[in-house]
Amino acid sequence: MQINKVGVVGCGLMGSGITEVCARSGYDVIVREVNRELLQRGLDRIQKSVGKGVSRGKLSQEEADQAMARIQGTLDLADFSDCDLVVEAAVENMALKKQIFAELDEILPPHAVLASNTSSLCITEMASVTGRGAKVLGIHFFNPVPVMPLIEFVRTILTSDETMQIARGFGASLGKTMVTAKDTPGFIVNRLLIPYILDAVRVYEDGLASREDIDTAIKLGLNHPMGPLTLLDFVGLDTCLFIADAMYEEYKDPRYAAPPLLRRMVLAGHLGRKSGKGFYDY
Ligand code: 3HC
Repeated sequence: MQINKVGVVGCGLMGSGITEVCARSGYDVIVREVNRELLQRGLDRIQKSVGKGVSRGKLSQEEADQAMARIQGTLDLADFSDCDLVVEAAVENMALKKQIFAELDEILPPHAVLASNTSSLCITEMASVTGRGAKVLGIHFFNPVPVMPLIEFVRTILTSDETMQIARGFGASLGKTMVTAKDTPGFIVNRLLIPYILDAVRVYEDGLASREDIDTAIKLGLNHPMGPLTLLDFVGLDTCLFIADAMYEEYKDPRYAAPPLLRRMVLAGHLGRKSGKGFYDY
């Protein structure tokens, strides 16, 4: 199957990054947001990131202009009727995602593949509200999407071989390296990342070391680009808490139980970079 047009639901941090890499790889992309202000903010983020790509010599100004011209914003999912593949990157709320999946199932042509970028929610549950379970999978990107080379595919017991083949062709066309996981909370990356991040908060909470020393130890001792508390601020404390809670809900394993400090920081609005304050000030 030839993918000509990609739909992206949500133009937040992940949705805008996914829109950008698709447009930069030559796809026509339509992206939906819930209001004009959020849509404009997302499109501005894409423009800024593409500009950064030009200034870093990753693409020419002409290629950047062509990529931006391939992107269309909308407030209406009905405009997705000619999409061959859709990536849903709305907020992490199962009821909302199921509503979007049911709506898209009515709007999309029968051949279209329907994917979610969820980091932890059950793909099978989203597939269950559609009449195209064989064409549903998870396509999990990493932040920042234009820079991170990985895509994690999530295959449910319904996903067909043909859909996986289409997804692999799509991932390769974006220049990403692909791995495949079963539909279990956290897939591969977050299954390993979340206990590590939660342990870093526990180490800090227990007063074992300062936040700077915890981050420096991991950064220089293990050669990670960021220490765990910096990474937590980068991903968002609320996002990590949400993933941890979803994983704990399913596995009931204390490794995924959020430490009290993390929950309290989220309640206090200390969400990391996006709120200006997390483990560090921004
Ligand atoms: N377009 C294209 N290329 C870009 C770009 C853009 N908009 N912005 C940056 N780049 C390129 C740069 O040119 C550079 O390329 P080079 O290595 O060939 O020179 C490279 O990307 C790195 O860019 P910077 O120099 O600006 O940035 P840093 O070296 O400071 O790295 C970082 C920034 C990539 C964020 C790095 O700190 C990092 O990898 N951090 C960890 C990020 C991470 O772990 N993300 C995953 C989070 S988990 C997740 O997303 C899953 C979810 O479910 C929770």
